[in-house]
Amino acid sequence: MPDLFSYAGKRVVLTGGTTGVGAAAAELLAELGCSDLTVLDIAEPTGPATRYIPTDMSDPASIDRAVADIGSGVDVLFNNAGVAATHAADFVIRVNYLGPRRLTEGLLPTMNSGGAIVNTASIAGQGWPENLAKISELIAIDDWDEALGWIADNDELVGADSYAFSKQLAQVWTMHSSARTRNEFGVRTNSVCPGPIDTPLMADFIKTMTEQVIQWTIDQTGGSMLTADDIARTLVMLGSDASVAMNGHNTIADNGFSAILATGQVDFSGLG
Ligand SMILES: NC(=O)c1ccc[n+]([C@@H]2O[C@H](COP(=O)([O-])OP(=O)(O)OC[C@H]3O[C@@H](n4cnc5c(N)ncnc54)[C@H](O)[C@@H]3O)[C@@H](O)[C@H]2O)c1
Repeated sequence: MPDLFSYAGKRVVLTGGTTGVGAAAAELLAELGCSDLTVLDIAEPTGPATRYIPTDMSDPASIDRAVADIGSGVDVLFNNAGVAATHAADFVIRVNYLGPRRLTEGLLPTMNSGGAIVNTASIAGQGWPENLAKISELIAIDDWDEALGWIADNDELVGADSYAFSKQLAQVWTMHSSARTRNEFGVRTNSVCPGPIDTPLMADFIKTMTEQVIQWTIDQTGGSMLTADDIARTLVMLGSDASVAMNGHNTIADNGFSAILATGQVDFSGLG
């Protein structure tokens, strides 16, 4: 029986691998036999990366330098770095959508067939159906500056909740790009959509969403917050051969919050 979760012999690139989910994923990947892990981050990782390329995912020139440095033959790309809406709206969209897209476009043509791309989205992006027409407009734009122009022109939509909009983009982009990555390059594309996770980013979410809303979400699903390792497990599963049939799938990993919301079992009284 092959080890379907093994990363032995695989060339892996991970963004945002220094803290939180990414740091936990780096640990797990090493345990699963990965001996070629390149981390792209603004801060140097202390975990088991074999290579660190300082990269700012908000900056196209920095991403292009990383693509050139990495070279060809990547098997698995984890687009995991992300920021909350404590930053300006255009910065949130750059780090959470435009940057991952540019990195993906740079690496994809030389990725190994049979490989996988895993985007870290969020359940915060589940409102995408109501914005699909506008999101499709932005996804149709390939050029970085033109995309920033679209974002400026649509400030009311983007700025209302830039984090949620960035994760709506991540979910729709995952579905949209999966046809091409699979059919042209033999590379699967999926996302993980976590609920609240106990990571350094949580402090920023508390600032933008309030502690009451975050705590209420956690209380609906038994009262304990997901850990970075919980979500890292979903990431490595989606990047592994165990998920070979999955493509274009936004994988909910939220302790069941979305399920109870969809089936009318949520108790809204805790929201006051
Ligand atoms: N924490 C949560 O509750 C939660 C919930 C759903 C989804 N997510 C998503 O999970 C992913 C990981 O977040 P986390 O919770 O582990 O947070 P985190 O802050 O611990 O990790 C984010 C990582 O991204 C790096 N990073 C930040 N800005 C960067 C930039 N401009 N360029 C390159 N790297 C940058 C950070 O240095 C860090 O290593 C993000 O995409 C986030 O949106 C988090």
